Amino acid sequence: MTAVLFVCLGNICRSPLAEGIFRAQVEAAGLSAQFFMDSAGCGGWHSGEPPDPRSVALAAHHGIDLSAQKARQIHRDDFERFDLILGLDRDNVRHLKAMLPKGSHAQVRLYLEAALGLHKDVPDPYYGSASDFEAVFHLCEKASAGLLNQRINA
Ligand code: 4NP
Repeated sequence: MTAVLFVCLGNICRSPLAEGIFRAQVEAAGLSAQFFMDSAGCGGWHSGEPPDPRSVALAAHHGIDLSAQKARQIHRDDFERFDLILGLDRDNVRHLKAMLPKGSHAQVRLYLEAALGLHKDVPDPYYGSASDFEAVFHLCEKASAGLLNQRINA
């Protein structure tokens, strides 16, 4: 069992999509017993809220249900509970590395780098347009497939 945590800034736009898309691909591959996944935000401004309606609608359009998700802030315990903690952008990764408790075995990595070998951010779409959300969705689809392939072949 691999526990994977997806982390962005607010846990309402990007990381809910990263989590939901990865879960859907894991389920489609029949590998649900091998993965636990969750998402969190570096900040807690939206804690307890559902994902952004733009992410929810876009995911639903692709047959992915984000309705069970609720935003939460990253917590020290997450570094004990998760094997792989993926920051959606480099600011998120810096935040996570600054929090990393001594002795934690969690791997903190940039999402697109861990998934696809790309040293690139998933851009924050919060103040953006529908096409910015679509770009996030398609990046997360590719990244999830990359992540899953790597884990299957690991
Ligand atoms: P996310 O987007 O990090 O992809 O969830 C954001 C959501 C909320 C805020 C910033 C980014 N905010 O400033 O409230």
